Amino acid sequence: MINPSNNLKQFTTYAFYEIDRAKEEAIKRGFKIIDFGVGDPTEPLFEGAIKALQEGAVKHARSGYPSYIGMKVLREKYSEWLKRRFNIYVDYDEQITITAGAKEAIFHFPLAFLNTGDYALIPSIGYPPYKTGTVFAGGIPVFYKLSEKNDFLPNVDEIEEKIKEFKKVKLIYLNYPNNPTSKVAGKKVYEEIIEIARDKDIIVASDECYSEIYFDEKPYSILNFSDDWSNLIVFNSLSKRSNATGLRVGFVFGGKEIIKYFRMLKMQIDSGIPNAIQEAAIAALDDERHVEENRKLYRTKRDILIKTLRSLDIKYYAESTFYVWAKLSNNSMETAKKILELDKERKIGINVTPSKMLCLDPNEDINTYARFALVPSVDDIKLACEILINSKWI
Ligand SMILES: Cc1ncc(COP(=O)(O)O)c(C=O)c1O
Repeated sequence: MINPSNNLKQFTTYAFYEIDRAKEEAIKRGFKIIDFGVGDPTEPLFEGAIKALQEGAVKHARSGYPSYIGMKVLREKYSEWLKRRFNIYVDYDEQITITAGAKEAIFHFPLAFLNTGDYALIPSIGYPPYKTGTVFAGGIPVFYKLSEKNDFLPNVDEIEEKIKEFKKVKLIYLNYPNNPTSKVAGKKVYEEIIEIARDKDIIVASDECYSEIYFDEKPYSILNFSDDWSNLIVFNSLSKRSNATGLRVGFVFGGKEIIKYFRMLKMQIDSGIPNAIQEAAIAALDDERHVEENRKLYRTKRDILIKTLRSLDIKYYAESTFYVWAKLSNNSMETAKKILELDKERKIGINVTPSKMLCLDPNEDINTYARFALVPSVDDIKLACEILINSKWI
């Protein structure tokens, strides 16, 4: 009999199973589903990137294995982009590495820094690889609470207490702009966390993958808040900025020592990102117009949805990212199942992600929110809103 490893065993039950099954049932019964479920953009990849990808395939026909750390021209291009976007100088030689999207980087990162039994501080709701990466590296996840009471920002006192209690905390994950709450963190949060962590030689890993999906002020990078980056590292990616989830391009940048060890780890794992894909990334970074258009489109979609939520008297958060985090008064799991077949006459349903599925902390029991990913078309969002207004579901 073949058995998975003990680590894998902990993750063999898929969090979204229950809702996915209900969605499949609805589809079998003939429902069209307007799908706000998965945060995967449905707009096409930036055209210039497609062209560069095609040309790159020819140009690199004999290039062999790509560079482990990413092509110099792409790292240089990214350094220039970081300067334009965040006004920070990140040395492309020693402080940037290209990865196959942010997910693999986030998952692998703890392998370079955690020993068995070390702790990582992780938000109680959010992106699963902070937790899976920690566990597979032999680390132990400890959760800090993201709650409405704290405006879904880390409570610095709680973090300090956990560091004291668990002693061997080596890593703290931050994720702003935040999936799923859409919250943006300001100077105070970053500065306080940096200060606590620096004191204890803890790495602060800041996942900034949604930095380009904003509606008001541009979000900052954690690197804006310290001149000393020795314990700071950022994950970013083209996935959300350029509708490039299929391209798989991510960036890890920050402290030199951290990058040095992360590169050493990556040399053991893979052999770089395909060159043609890196060419596409260069083209995408050279263009901001498509990113601006993207933001405009998300704003339109967000405004339609939040107008509906307001008219239904539903509290929501929609500060940035392409998520709207809505507070439902009742059990969000039940509500999510119910709205999958909401318009029975026209056979149209709506799929959202209930907060329960986004809990990383097994002791967290947050089941009153739903996450809407603004990925359906504008027309479908209008239709979904019309149904939400005219049906009985809350
Ligand atoms: C918070 C967060 N970080 C990282 C990622 C990974 O992005 P990618 O691997 O496509 O770069 C996602 C994807 O949904 C995300 O929500």
